[in-house]
Amino acid sequence: MEKLITIAIDGFSSTGKSTLAKQLAKRLSYIYVDTGAMYRAVTLFAMENKFITSDTFYFEKLEKELPNIVLDFKFNIDLGFAEIYLNGLNVENKIRSLAVSKQVSKVSAISSVRRKLVIEQQEMGKNKGIVMDGRDIGTVVFPDAELKIFMTASADVRAERRYNELIDKGDNVNYEEILKNVVERDLLDSTREDSPLIKAKDAIEIDNSDLSIEAQFDQIYSLIQNI
Ligand code: DC
Repeated sequence: MEKLITIAIDGFSSTGKSTLAKQLAKRLSYIYVDTGAMYRAVTLFAMENKFITSDTFYFEKLEKELPNIVLDFKFNIDLGFAEIYLNGLNVENKIRSLAVSKQVSKVSAISSVRRKLVIEQQEMGKNKGIVMDGRDIGTVVFPDAELKIFMTASADVRAERRYNELIDKGDNVNYEEILKNVVERDLLDSTREDSPLIKAKDAIEIDNSDLSIEAQFDQIYSLIQNI
């Protein structure tokens, strides 16, 4: 049997982390966990309960409710990946909206939120055989991961990818607004006090601005063969 490893993929928003992670999980028959979806689901919960709006954030109210936020991933055979459920409801689509993207960096800067989600992530990966993507996977969640990837791409390329994704889903979005959100989130995520987005010392950096999805996969897959 092949050796099971932990693969940590971190990087800026919309760098294609989840595309790569899904490809790797499928090829290796590993579990894939999108930790951004977990932060997004907590953000959706905060929005639905009016704990956060564009100009207010009652984070103590959110902190009090954290034990009542139950997140699950359930594999969807048709889609080929696991969808996220918030207190029993499938919120996979809802969490991808620009409205959630605009609030998620504020919610993910709260230490008690991070503590809760990191514990759940470590539990999911305790038997290895996992590909996890996020911002702090190689630095905080699995500092001993056998393979750490840090993904970057120019802000324009990333905003265009996110814009096309939302347009394909039928959302009515504006490119400039998406670009602004991508740049703002990068800044907030990499300057927050708790677990900021930084490249782990032993991570391999991939700039995929001009790299095809297939070429990127082949490059990483060959790294795994040599572990
Ligand atoms: O990967 P994503 O763009 O869906 O993530 C949404 C936000 O969640 C991101 O802007 C920051 C936060 N996040 C985080 O703080 N830590 C993680 N491990 C994953 C995401």
